[in-house]
Amino acid sequence: MTDLAALTGLPFDLRTKAFLDYLDRRRAQSAVVRSDQPGVWEVFGYDETVQVLGDHETFSNDMNDLIPEDERELASAAQGNFLGIDPPRHTQMRELVRRAFTPRVVADLEPVVERTAEQLLDEVELSADGSGTVDLVAGFASPLTARVIAKLFGIPEQDHVLFTIWADALLGARPAGELGKADESAVRELGDLVRSASAYLLDLIHERRAHPRDDLISALAQAEVDGRSLGDHEIVGVIGMFVIAGHLPSSVLIGSTVMALDTHPDTFAEVRADHGLLPQVVEEVLRWRPPLVRDQRVAAREAELGGERIPAGAMVCLWLASAHRDAARFPQADAFDIHRGNQTRHIAFGRGIHFCLGAPLARMETRIALSALLRRFDRVEVLRDGGIQFHPSIGVLGPVRLPAAVHARTSSA
Ligand code: HEM
Repeated sequence: MTDLAALTGLPFDLRTKAFLDYLDRRRAQSAVVRSDQPGVWEVFGYDETVQVLGDHETFSNDMNDLIPEDERELASAAQGNFLGIDPPRHTQMRELVRRAFTPRVVADLEPVVERTAEQLLDEVELSADGSGTVDLVAGFASPLTARVIAKLFGIPEQDHVLFTIWADALLGARPAGELGKADESAVRELGDLVRSASAYLLDLIHERRAHPRDDLISALAQAEVDGRSLGDHEIVGVIGMFVIAGHLPSSVLIGSTVMALDTHPDTFAEVRADHGLLPQVVEEVLRWRPPLVRDQRVAAREAELGGERIPAGAMVCLWLASAHRDAARFPQADAFDIHRGNQTRHIAFGRGIHFCLGAPLARMETRIALSALLRRFDRVEVLRDGGIQFHPSIGVLGPVRLPAAVHARTSSA
């Protein structure tokens, strides 16, 4: 059996191929398999993955028992992380956040995303003939998505870089091939990070409670459902979750979209001629190269899944990237085809009660980032031997460094 951890040492293209081949092989054997890691079951089929995501009573998302007793700060921040809790608390927390993070808030961010994308592209150094090189993730997508999240929360501009640091540290915390529960030392290391981030955010929350502004922290502080509002530590947890969920996957998605177009010149030409196709492109990239390739749940009770008995307490690893390659749902799944028409059935943003709250923002950011790139440059070519780096975790699929050669349009429209 392939050692998943070993894959991370491979160059990006071999690694992607080896990883997807691995998923295809495992799925061909069975949709649901007991892992060789104790207490873990792996799910490779689309229908079985959707079954787990849709049944939150049997498959719980509450992993809070992993937090050591004495890591109380981490535990109280985790209270605000409603991704990691079950109803009824999840329902209430999600509703409180949804009241603050409305479609209008996302719509109002659109000009901010536009402006930030343009500013970042202004910083690209070009020679006299208009050509240059730029790292489209580290120098564009990553600062773009980090600044947008920071802006959303009203974080002062000089502190925006903190978001990148927190997101990277929080996401890099688990060993590459680890499918089961995070070990205690990893949780303790996270504790140190959470302590310093919490101290910073608590100051900001106190300030916004005293002097509300037009930002998400102020809105979260004021949101109320059935007479209940969010405590300071819960708001810290919500921000932490948005930092983890809202920055890295979106920046990886922008990078993967550029890579997908780069390797499919006909589609690239089609999109250049019609930017209206960008939403379709983004959906197909989400299916073909989902930024988060796996999800997880804990079996709250014994269950039947794909003909297998899953014991209560088992960790269930859902390979979203494998579900997206299930031929029963996606014929010729390996092909990148923006016209396949059924892409929206992908589950890159999850399914059910934990469906990604930031999906409209991620879609908008990617569309605008691509559109800004195509408007600015008539040539965008990934430098395949130029030091492309993928995210080290096997749970994240896509580039964190993406050098590209660009050439500015001579007559801007
Ligand atoms: C391409 C980018 C993104 C991807 C691929 C992605 C993926 C996901 C997935 C798979 C889940 C469900 C996890 C589960 O069921 O266990 C999720 C949940 C969530 N995402 Fe995203 N996400 C992205 C961007 C964002 C952004 C930009 C934000 C915020 C601004 C965000 C906020 C959230 C939140 C708050 C949840 C938890 C929802 C709940 O538990 O009710 N995500 N995301």
